[in-house]
Amino acid sequence: MAIQPIRLFGDPILRTAAVPVTDFDKELRTLVKDLTDTMIDAPGSGLAAPQIGVGLRVFTYWVDDDPGHLVNPELVFPDEEQQDGPEGCLSLPGLTYDCLRRARVVARGMTMYGDPVVVEGRELLSRAIQHETDHLDGVLFIDRLDRETRKRAMKEIRGAEWAGQPTVTVKVSPHATRGKAL
Ligand code: NI
Repeated sequence: MAIQPIRLFGDPILRTAAVPVTDFDKELRTLVKDLTDTMIDAPGSGLAAPQIGVGLRVFTYWVDDDPGHLVNPELVFPDEEQQDGPEGCLSLPGLTYDCLRRARVVARGMTMYGDPVVVEGRELLSRAIQHETDHLDGVLFIDRLDRETRKRAMKEIRGAEWAGQPTVTVKVSPHATRGKAL
């Protein structure tokens, strides 16, 4: 187990686009292990490498008790259908807002061993894949809220007890997305 501290909103790495992985080496496998251990410990439904301070295009997800990971993901949406529902983020502990997402996603990427893989997601898995891929582009879910909700979110972020503490692991009671944040 190598649980890492989770970077919180305000840390510049969360606003920085991550770079593609080119070396599928032992270091990458350690990163995937750290992400998985940290995500499960949190607990969360997903965790992206920038959230533990690593600027690489890698994330893990944990939906239906089945942890997985993707390296260098590329998303395609097979249809126009959307889903609306509560979403949270381990980098914004304790805050949950309804966020509109695509209902289905097809994610193409690589495994940590360098093999091509396709993950098809719907409902929570689709939401998690979109949320984590956003993290790799420096995008946070609060960016995708409607104007009114986003205003409320910014106010609640300013008032949060963790505000201004860039790198602290905060244990919170389970919240968003069936009790787990992303
Ligand atoms: Ni997140």
